[in-house]
Amino acid sequence: MSEAIITLERVSRVYDTGKVLVPALEDVDLTIERGEFVAIVGPSGSGKSTMMNILGCLDRPTAGRYVLDGTPVEELDDNGLAAVRSRSIGFVFQSYNLLPRTSAIENVAAPLAYQGVGRKERLARAQEALERLGLGERLHHQPTELSGGQQQRVGIARAIVTEPALLLADEPTGNLDSHAGAEVIDLFRQLHATGRTIVLITHDVDVAVAADRQIHIRDGRIAA
Ligand SMILES: Nc1ncnc2c1ncn2[C@@H]1O[C@H](COP(=O)(O)OP(=O)(O)OP(=O)(O)O)[C@@H](O)[C@H]1O
Ligand SMILES: [Mg+2]
Repeated sequence: MSEAIITLERVSRVYDTGKVLVPALEDVDLTIERGEFVAIVGPSGSGKSTMMNILGCLDRPTAGRYVLDGTPVEELDDNGLAAVRSRSIGFVFQSYNLLPRTSAIENVAAPLAYQGVGRKERLARAQEALERLGLGERLHHQPTELSGGQQQRVGIARAIVTEPALLLADEPTGNLDSHAGAEVIDLFRQLHATGRTIVLITHDVDVAVAADRQIHIRDGRIAA
């Protein structure tokens, strides 16, 4: 069995606006091994969000082949795509994307409901994930009652509670000051040390250096 968790073979994504065709990714070849901590880094407009959407099974390539955790994504219908997303990927977003007026523990427990885990076990696993991220004293706080850095830690707890094969983070420090951002990056390093595979997408080279490998993207292509 191959240890690659992500394989992109000549992947392209062309947006069709009706007036023009925008090639946002062109002929991208990329392999990420299980257990790697990789940063995908590039300037605005280089194709990072396009790449994130494809890696996260939120969008499909217009050409090429994507194999995620042994599954060729092009063979899946939309339900299959949603299932692989729920099973294999934990997402961390720039703006946290927590449910408003909902406690930290309920936010973290939510993805487990989609997997059919019973409520008691959901809450136990959510509590454990939050405690692991240093938020054991904040279980019943709502997002507005937490700092930005704390909200992002809730977001990370929610991403890891399902034990996904891949943690996919899009500008996770983008809304944080440098101190809170450094704490979040430190958490990624700790999660990586316990064996997680992490793909961190960022425009910030100072953030990207936290990863073991940097993949530079420019004008939709991987730069040498
Ligand atoms: N839905 C769309 N329709 C048409 N063109 C698009 C669409 N989404 C993105 N693009 C174009 O594709 C290219 C890559 O965009 P993308 O959003 O992936 O860049 P990015 O690296 O995430 O930029 P940023 O750092 O500003 O978020 C850009 O030229 C953009 O204008
Ligand atoms: Mg973007």
